[in-house]
Amino acid sequence: MSIVVTGATGELGRLVIDALLTGESAVPASSVAAVVRDKEKAADLAERGVELRIADYNRPETLADAFEAGDRVLLISGSEVGRRVAQHGAVIDAAKAAGVAQLAYTGVLGGPEADFTLADEHKATEELILASGLPHTLLRNGWYSENYTANLAPVLAHGAVVANAGEGRIASASRADYAAAAAAVLTGPAEEHLGRAYELSGDTAWSLAEYAAEVAAQTGREIAYSDVPAATHLEILTGAGVPAPFAEILVDVDRAVALGALALRTGDLARLIGRPTTPIAESIKEALAAS
Ligand SMILES: NC(=O)c1ccc[n+]([C@@H]2O[C@H](COP(=O)([O-])OP(=O)(O)OC[C@H]3O[C@@H](n4cnc5c(N)ncnc54)[C@H](OP(=O)(O)O)[C@@H]3O)[C@@H](O)[C@H]2O)c1
Repeated sequence: MSIVVTGATGELGRLVIDALLTGESAVPASSVAAVVRDKEKAADLAERGVELRIADYNRPETLADAFEAGDRVLLISGSEVGRRVAQHGAVIDAAKAAGVAQLAYTGVLGGPEADFTLADEHKATEELILASGLPHTLLRNGWYSENYTANLAPVLAHGAVVANAGEGRIASASRADYAAAAAAVLTGPAEEHLGRAYELSGDTAWSLAEYAAEVAAQTGREIAYSDVPAATHLEILTGAGVPAPFAEILVDVDRAVALGALALRTGDLARLIGRPTTPIAESIKEALAAS
């Protein structure tokens, strides 16, 4: 019986492992297993005493030994957009066959109500989880602040935050906040979390105009928010080398932001982690210090 984290070599997965080993409710490394597709990439996790289970979402046969009866599992959604329903379905089937005690899944804020392209695979996955009958916890993650702060270079280079998000607000939180929440539901009393859907987002929602103003204040540079039509944004993104299918997804996300789809604040995240979420200003500060 272990706490098992898939996608453990990804950015969120590493933070979840870290939260499990060193966070508020730390557990011994011997009780933690990481499902990874690349053993070499996970060498540091093995060094910390975490058991490695090698499996690929695309190869269901490799998932047969990924889980054991009684495991509490975090399925971190995959990164290959368009393939994820089949991939997640394979993980759910393997978890069901093993008889895991809890399957937590990182979905998207709003769950069935989320009305943007990127949410479709999360909605379909939630349906598979419900149909499986597995004891589950849905972690409907809002936006990572890092989605924005990891892209400060072009903002500083052009003195502009370019988007088609209007005055829409984003209740983002740091990846580490979402990781701490995942660790809390994997280590806390299972009965508190089973059958629950948490809408996880930051305590404060901000607009891109406010984001631009905060970057300007912290850097002493002039940074404007340039709210452009969707078609213009698409042209700018593809012109900058973003592949068209991904650019379309980004433009669609901004459309959803404009409609308030990522502004939902329930307080679930702060409650699960037992502290306020990380303010966007703090994430900007960290990103500027690291650049
Ligand atoms: N809420 C948000 O703002 C937001 C933003 C971006 C993404 N997401 C979602 O949240 C997930 C976690 O975010 P992240 O920042 O940690 O992303 P990430 O760094 O790209 O991590 C994705 C993880 O999924 C693993 N993975 C992908 N395909 C796999 C496969 N076929 N078999 C096994 N493992 C596979 C990757 O393995 P490798 O390490 O081997 O590549 C990696 O560990 C993303 O995958 C995406 O679904 C959410």
